[in-house]
Amino acid sequence: MKLPQSYHSFRELDQFHNYIDSSFRTFQIFLMHKKYKQAKLELKRLQILLGQHIKDEEALLLPLYKKLINPLPKGGALEFYIREHEQISGYVKRFLQTIHDWSVEKPPAGLELVKLFDACYDFKHLVDHHDTREDTFLYRLLDQKTQDKKRKALLEKMLNGQQNALEACDAVT
Ligand SMILES: [Fe+2]
Ligand SMILES: [Fe+2]
Repeated sequence: MKLPQSYHSFRELDQFHNYIDSSFRTFQIFLMHKKYKQAKLELKRLQILLGQHIKDEEALLLPLYKKLINPLPKGGALEFYIREHEQISGYVKRFLQTIHDWSVEKPPAGLELVKLFDACYDFKHLVDHHDTREDTFLYRLLDQKTQDKKRKALLEKMLNGQQNALEACDAVT
């Protein structure tokens, strides 16, 4: 799956979420096939790309959302996004720590693998919940309330961030 090359509305940022979902599945498939090195690389790339997306959402989108939408909808309160971002980043960090020493020579015990996949399930559930919240409130309302010019400028910045993160990914692979 390829990263989106352009965004015409905030709701199209959901395509980036789809990319992350796909990258996470790739990570799981590598693990199932005992390809530990590739699994670590895939997850590291996901961490960089998702980290940038979260950083840009918090720096560029959430302040504007707070300014333009008053009152904020019940399910779209600012602290929900921020708390979920912390939780999502925390999961990825822990996954990387867990698999850090895994290799063909030192494979994980069956139980370790089961525990990791259980945590992967929780992670996917959280991400799905978060993405739905953004699609329903943050992205949709920003699409409604921003002028074309402002929307275009912000989406370009999101795309630039994505491009920078991609370059950082190339540096680790
Ligand atoms: Fe987010
Ligand atoms: Fe997002």
